[in-house]
Amino acid sequence: MNIIEIHGLTKDYALGETTVHALRGIDLTIAKGDLVCIMGPSGCGKTTLLNVIGGIDSATTGSVRIGGQELTTLPDREITDLRLHRLGFIFQTFNLIPVLTATENVEFPLLLQKEHSKSEIRARAEKLLEEVGLSEYRHHRPSELSGGQRQRIAIARALVTNPDIVLADEPTANLDSVTGASILEIMQTMNQRQQTTFLFSTHDKNVLKYARTVVHIKDGLIDGE
Ligand SMILES: Nc1ncnc2c1ncn2[C@@H]1O[C@H](COP(=O)(O)OP(=O)(O)O)[C@@H](O)[C@H]1O
Ligand SMILES: [Mg+2]
Repeated sequence: MNIIEIHGLTKDYALGETTVHALRGIDLTIAKGDLVCIMGPSGCGKTTLLNVIGGIDSATTGSVRIGGQELTTLPDREITDLRLHRLGFIFQTFNLIPVLTATENVEFPLLLQKEHSKSEIRARAEKLLEEVGLSEYRHHRPSELSGGQRQRIAIARALVTNPDIVLADEPTANLDSVTGASILEIMQTMNQRQQTTFLFSTHDKNVLKYARTVVHIKDGLIDGE
């Protein structure tokens, strides 16, 4: 089953008088449970593609289906709902909430869902922190943790709602190569354990080996087809 189906996706940005064609006709299908690397140089459209798949940005033309559901015609409220229940996000700059502890950061998406009791939420967050090896740091705030530890918290936060898909935009770009490798190894483990589909982007050829499928992008198009 294809969890993501993209056809003829374009994305234009208005930049003053000119138009930037960030995506110029992407066709892409991704199987459920895959671990996919979106690979390409800076400016090729990786962030734009992940943002459109994640409902953070809208398509200009084309079709994006997530689990069979067409995203491009979905009302905003339903996109918010899809993001909260079926997608997890990991960012290059971690994007943790500085005033919250590690546990509280991981709990945050579950609090937004408003569907679970406080004790369920705490238990689930602590389980995820344990899975990423950070239990002993659960009371720490992000500023007291290293980049690699922060990104582990972000992985736990992305997975705490048990999403179908995790989107990670250059998750290793702000980490040294050893720490970056450990982050991708955690993603591999979580991918195998839970059948969660992972998409991560990178411009770094050294991390390709962590993916099961590699999608090359060049100038807003899939390269090498
Ligand atoms: N908000 C925006 N406004 C105008 N141009 C943008 C915007 N976001 C991205 N772009 C342009 O779209 C292209 C693709 O950008 P991006 O998706 O960020 O690439 P990547 O993540 O691969 O570096 C680049 O030319 C970039 O300058
Ligand atoms: Mg980018």
